[in-house]
Amino acid sequence: MANETENPRVEPLALHAGAVPDPTTGAILTPIYQTTTYRQEAVGQDKGYTYSRAGNPTVTALEKRLAALEGAEYATCFSSGLSATTALFLSLLSAGDRVVVSEVCYGGTVRLLQQIFSNLGVIAEFIDTSREEALVKAASEPAKLFFIETPANPTLRLTDIALASKFAKLAGALVVVDNTLLTPVLQKPLDLGADISLHSTTKYIEGHNATIGGVLITRDKELHERFDLVRKSTGTIQAPFDAWLTLQGVKTLPLRIREHCDNAFRVGRFLESHPAIEKLNYPGFDSFPQHELAGRQQELGGALISFELKGGVEAGIHLMNSVKLCALPI
Ligand SMILES: Cc1ncc(COP(=O)(O)O)c(C=O)c1O
Repeated sequence: MANETENPRVEPLALHAGAVPDPTTGAILTPIYQTTTYRQEAVGQDKGYTYSRAGNPTVTALEKRLAALEGAEYATCFSSGLSATTALFLSLLSAGDRVVVSEVCYGGTVRLLQQIFSNLGVIAEFIDTSREEALVKAASEPAKLFFIETPANPTLRLTDIALASKFAKLAGALVVVDNTLLTPVLQKPLDLGADISLHSTTKYIEGHNATIGGVLITRDKELHERFDLVRKSTGTIQAPFDAWLTLQGVKTLPLRIREHCDNAFRVGRFLESHPAIEKLNYPGFDSFPQHELAGRQQELGGALISFELKGGVEAGIHLMNSVKLCALPI
């Protein structure tokens, strides 16, 4: 895998897509439309906005930029990655519905399914979506949704999005990919057959540890309208200031993500021959069992590496308590 991105078009999109200069002054940056309501010319005559729980121009600008980066028409931004996931489930799942989920995925997604949506009668089946046999078996019964996280945190195991999408269709299911770890710069799930791309924008997209946010991106107008309806009904739109900060952050996403990948590559090279390491996972290395798949469906190896230490859990805790530059987030 070449350790450089092959898609130069993302830079202008990250800078300009969705930008709306201030119509009053011409100010280049899309303003923070910090307003609750909007004045209507007459009853029923609005300019596309009525109440900021339903829609806000700063949020719209961010949605247009994120949709463009993903090569899609529609995006709906939320107050967090998990509120995007919640809106996805509320939009698509009812009591008795089956959802097939990557068994290694973000813990908050697992908690949401096992402790909240299970009470509403949604049946979550966790399988190893990286294995074709597991996909075949999962597709032998009807399902509403295949929820895939690739690379999966922390094993970084990959799921073949095109293959999983093929089997999901056989089961009558839509496919969502949690694309948080790679961002649209490195992976475009919709081009590989997925119906929806989900991100926690909290991470690389905003990139400055300043906001919490999430987004659902799709090419399907009906799905988009459903997501908007659920967001309006449950009150989970992103705040205008957070959307504005994310608009600024996303401008440097292509540059940052390349640097992140480069750092991961170099730290990985250092660690892989280190005597304290038992096993190292990095999709960008030839030694990674799914390196060929990484080369096919994502650009670069990604910004995360994971590793196991000789000495197991105790050695891991000792290392984590000794790190100087990184902070322990939880
Ligand atoms: C892969 C992934 N998806 C979703 C989320 C949830 O995002 P948020 O923290 O913005 O709710 C996270 C958060 O860590 C994550 O790592």
